[in-house]
Amino acid sequence: MPSHYAIVPAAGSGTRFGSEVPKQYLDLAGRPLIHHSLAALCACERIKRVWVVLSPGDEWWGSFDWTSLGAKLHAVFCGGATRGESVANGLAAAASVLADDDWVMVHDAARPCLSQDMLATLCDELADDPVGGILAVPVADTLKRADAQQRVAATEPRDGLWQAQTPQMFRYGVLRKALAANSGVSDEAGAIEAAGLKPRLVGADASNLKVTFPADLRLAELILEGRNR
Ligand code: CTP
Ligand code: MG
Repeated sequence: MPSHYAIVPAAGSGTRFGSEVPKQYLDLAGRPLIHHSLAALCACERIKRVWVVLSPGDEWWGSFDWTSLGAKLHAVFCGGATRGESVANGLAAAASVLADDDWVMVHDAARPCLSQDMLATLCDELADDPVGGILAVPVADTLKRADAQQRVAATEPRDGLWQAQTPQMFRYGVLRKALAANSGVSDEAGAIEAAGLKPRLVGADASNLKVTFPADLRLAELILEGRNR
């Protein structure tokens, strides 16, 4: 039986969020934001080990206590200049543990509201899948294309469009080769697509949001509060 593992890229600086503290270390419901993302993965029984990929110059990780997350968690300080590079470096750091047919989930540190239900759905729906896939939500809003003056140039059809989330889960061997051959992609699914395969879209919901801008942090807090109530 293939095992499940997780890689969490967390070497970004949160430029769009605009705070002095990188967004993954901002307080969210009493803990660093990334603590929630890691806790969801560490609490999932199917996942054997979680590698968190930090920037080589990370000055924050060491100032928090991660012991409640247990022995599954391994911090590696090998983040790169882009998310894709951080993921590739994390996979390299994990290489001695992973077998080609093991499942690897890549999950953004900046998605703290991942639920156990979503993780279970991802694993169950992909269990016999030859390619793997990603959590995603169908686009609900009407889409507008802007011109240079920020006026609407066109209304775009949204039929068949989905918003990609994480975790993105693929077999280690396939993912490693796809990322090595296609480094300029913005997510793992992009590399798999470029390799000629079709990742499966596993229906999630908007609560698995990525904290990008300050307003997202408040939303994430409300989601976590609602869940714990
Ligand atoms: N990430 C990473 N290495 C990088 C850039 C990003 O590991 N060189 C991680 C981030 O820490 C985050 C995830 O990839 O957990 C998703 O990236 P994003 O939300 O874009 O975070 P940042 O790159 O930090 O934010 P911004 O793009 O606004 O600078
Ligand atoms: Mg970024």
